[in-house]
Amino acid sequence: MNKVAFIGGTGLSSFNSLQVKATKTIKTPYGDASSPFILGELNGMDVVFLARHGIKHTLAPHKINYRANLWALKELDVDSIIAVAAVGGISKNLGPVSIAIPDQIIDYTYSRQHTFFDEDNIQHVDFSFPYDKSLRKYLIKSANEVNIDVVEQATYGATQGPRLETAAEIIRLRQDGCSLVGMTGMPEASLARELKINYATCAVVANWAAGINSDVINMNEIEINLVEGMNKVRKILVQFCNYFN
Ligand code: HPA
Repeated sequence: MNKVAFIGGTGLSSFNSLQVKATKTIKTPYGDASSPFILGELNGMDVVFLARHGIKHTLAPHKINYRANLWALKELDVDSIIAVAAVGGISKNLGPVSIAIPDQIIDYTYSRQHTFFDEDNIQHVDFSFPYDKSLRKYLIKSANEVNIDVVEQATYGATQGPRLETAAEIIRLRQDGCSLVGMTGMPEASLARELKINYATCAVVANWAAGINSDVINMNEIEINLVEGMNKVRKILVQFCNYFN
């Protein structure tokens, strides 16, 4: 039995087509989650929705309590997560408003509470392939079915934020093999793995990453691009629900 959660990022803190059945606040050993969990139905499927940055978007990427969020989702019996993330595009094929389903990640974040295994319970988990293969396949299929182009492979560089990167940092990320850059991909993905929750990301390109097209990054354009991008994501996710009904 699959129970799916959607974690909404910047530009997706609510979901109109979601029929809300209940709202739940969950206590965890790690403190408070970003926001109450919305339990509802999307396209006939029971889903859980969490606004990663809080309902009013008040939590910066490094202030998000990723452990509480993931722990609470596990308590809600969630076994699959689709994480929606706004990102900057580094590769030529990932310009603004593109959608990508990353298959790899590189972690550049620091000083975040990034593991459940740091007391007397040390475990090393395999993380060779951070994103779940079947969830990725379903996301790609869903996008194809609603005629939305998706880039089917990408390496997500997770940076600390909340500032955007320098042009030199983006050159370094590109040399490392990153094709897009965002601030919330880690430790969310690895905490999900530690809890044995399947996890995939649907990334929306909000802007060209720093220095890629030589302009400075315009925050208004990011907002406009995200409105268009998140509309695509909503369509993909509604279609995605068909696979679990
Ligand atoms: N860098 C990091 N995170 C982001 C960006 C970016 O350019 N755009 C949206 N999220």
